[in-house]
Amino acid sequence: MEKTVEKAKEYVKELFRNEFSGHDYFHTLRVYNTAVALSEKENADLFIVSLAALLHDADDVKLSPETAEKKDNAVNFMKSQGVDEDIISRVVKAIDEISFSGTGTVVPSTIEGKCVQDADRLDAIGAIGIARAFSYGGNHNREMHNPDIPPNLNMTKEEYRKSNSTSVNHFYEKLLKLKDLMNTDEGKRIAEKRDRYMREFLDEFLSEWEGKR
Ligand code: ADP
Ligand code: NI
Repeated sequence: MEKTVEKAKEYVKELFRNEFSGHDYFHTLRVYNTAVALSEKENADLFIVSLAALLHDADDVKLSPETAEKKDNAVNFMKSQGVDEDIISRVVKAIDEISFSGTGTVVPSTIEGKCVQDADRLDAIGAIGIARAFSYGGNHNREMHNPDIPPNLNMTKEEYRKSNSTSVNHFYEKLLKLKDLMNTDEGKRIAEKRDRYMREFLDEFLSEWEGKR
């Protein structure tokens, strides 16, 4: 079990070698560490949580559209390590349930999925979340902020995928909503602290934007 987890870390490190979009190896590692911490509080199955966290972006539709549906990267990796079929399907199910798109959101059906979803969302908020949002924006040639473009708070899944909004709008369209979507108590506690920090950042950002000194 520990060996498979170590191998999974090596596998994603290699897989994300050239990935700088916010879905890099260190994102995966942070999600893994947070998910393990949540899982200990929730008495979730540590092996499922570990594999689901480490492999949660391996078949992300933006990075690997051709494997996204069947999660071939994750499945083939687990098969190569001799992981039981039953565990493979539990991990795949957890990964399937954790993605957030637009206003639609799935509450994972298992505590393992809930821990990984919370950990993934926690990495999108707070100081790291702020850095990731602007780095994603830069990568996608988005404006940092434009007061003439209002946030769109009720996007469908399609609109969200195609959206060309500013990075500041992304806070209102997604990041500030995440705190209220946490599944676990510990996730909620961490999210509240990170959410406060993000709101302070936005207040300061917008006040500097307006020329306040
Ligand atoms: P994950 O799959 O890790 O849940 P996403 O693929 O939704 O996350 O996004 C990766 C990172 O890029 C996150 O930190 C997210 O906040 C950021 N991001 C996604 N879309 C945008 C956007 N339109 N503007 C700014 N940041 C974004
Ligand atoms: Ni992720």
